Amino acid sequence: MADRIAVVGSNMVDLITYVERMPNRGETIEAPDFALGFGGKGANQAVAAARLGARVSMVTCVGDDLFGPRTRQNLADNGIDVSHVRSVDAAPSGTAPIFVEPDGENAILIVKGANAYLSPDDIDHAAETLKACDVILLQLEVPLETVYHAVAFGARHGVQTILNPAPANPDIDLSRLYGLDWFCPNESELALLSGMPTNSDEAVLAAARSLIGRGIRNVIVTLGGRGARLITADTAVQIAPVQVDPLDTTGAGDAFIGSFSRFLSGGSTPTQALERASRYAAHAITGRGTQSSYADLAGFEAFCAALENR
Ligand code: RIB
Repeated sequence: MADRIAVVGSNMVDLITYVERMPNRGETIEAPDFALGFGGKGANQAVAAARLGARVSMVTCVGDDLFGPRTRQNLADNGIDVSHVRSVDAAPSGTAPIFVEPDGENAILIVKGANAYLSPDDIDHAAETLKACDVILLQLEVPLETVYHAVAFGARHGVQTILNPAPANPDIDLSRLYGLDWFCPNESELALLSGMPTNSDEAVLAAARSLIGRGIRNVIVTLGGRGARLITADTAVQIAPVQVDPLDTTGAGDAFIGSFSRFLSGGSTPTQALERASRYAAHAITGRGTQSSYADLAGFEAFCAALENR
């Protein structure tokens, strides 16, 4: 069924400190601002897709602490089906201390907490929901076995799978991603996972094609300020960046992937979906925080109209 997306992935509570500069080791300095927000790559991608109108289900684990019920409620408030959100006894919820510098760039620590307990069994329990979806969306803040299981599930049941291999994990076994439809690394993740350089356009193409040669169908490489590249077995398409003044780049990659999955499941061609996702991510970096910076459909359309007129 079109327009239904399942996110099998993480949730975190983001502890965002806005700094003038990062402290040196052993140094204490004052920071001007702090914000607590809902994050986690999986939940961020789910919220982006839901705010754009997709019907989203989330398969995730929350902790047995004060953040768990709030995280579940936040997903529900965004219209996301939470029937496969599991609370893990005696585990903390995932948390992410984040530091944002004045130019909008960030540094992130993640403490997986309950996310480390998301298991292949959770996928099996959600099987009927997942089979009814158009897309299963995955990241790497949960155990690799769970990711492999979801990719195999998607291939077995004809549900497209999208994997954003972030944060990069050198232990990933690419042979267990056989049949993955969309692999979406950034340049450094692509270099790590392919074992090849990515320091030129030709190198990126060769590295991506090496993954396609190992059973991954399509690769989308995000290139930061240089846009993105869609690479298939026989084509390579450059997606131009959208220029904006960044306030906070945290969660921009998740805005890109979550919106791409929504546009793709909504019937856009892959190139159209990527062009629109590029705009959605550009809008996200003009606001503070992760999910707090994600537009709904009306806000996104207004941003696109403003881009056309500038
Ligand atoms: O990609 C941004 C996200 O990474 C943050 O929301 C943080 O929770 C970490 O998962």
